[in-house]
Amino acid sequence: MTQKVLLLTFHLIGVGTLVGVVFASVYYVLKLKTVEQLKDFITLRRIGAAGATLAILSGLVMSYRWLGNLIYEVAFMSKMGLILLDGIIAEFVFVKVLKKARAENSTESIKNKLLPWAIVSVLIVVAIITISAYRDKLH
Ligand code: HEM
Repeated sequence: MTQKVLLLTFHLIGVGTLVGVVFASVYYVLKLKTVEQLKDFITLRRIGAAGATLAILSGLVMSYRWLGNLIYEVAFMSKMGLILLDGIIAEFVFVKVLKKARAENSTESIKNKLLPWAIVSVLIVVAIITISAYRDKLH
């Protein structure tokens, strides 16, 4: 197996984990009934963050070693921008709301605050995958 195939495999394992968690988060928010369930939700989000880290590290190595002038590619830079945006939503919006929510004790207000962001995150991830898959044709 070549190094690139191995890295791409790691990349897609990370991507798969991240995408699974992003979709599962919408379901989780919709099904949220008690504040205690937030503990499992936080664990789920940590798994997503681990997947994102694996995708980002393997992606950066692949870009650095094999793809040269990606920085001039609109598709690649859009992908990077969307990843940054999703990271900001995950780390700043989600984590902030979750921390506050545990003190608040009201699942309804948690749901209302998290659901729009969970949906935005799904849309961003779908856009990232579309750009990645069609990169060759987009630049
Ligand atoms: C800093 C972060 C990332 C970098 C630098 C990066 C870079 C790369 C590179 C270099 C490839 C191989 C492209 C090729 O050989 O043509 C790739 C493939 C891919 N990436 Fe990323 N990536 C990153 C994060 C992500 C994330 C977060 C996702 C999804 C949510 C993602 C989805 C994909 C997919 C689906 C492919 C496979 C495309 C294909 O083989 O058709 N990547 N990425």
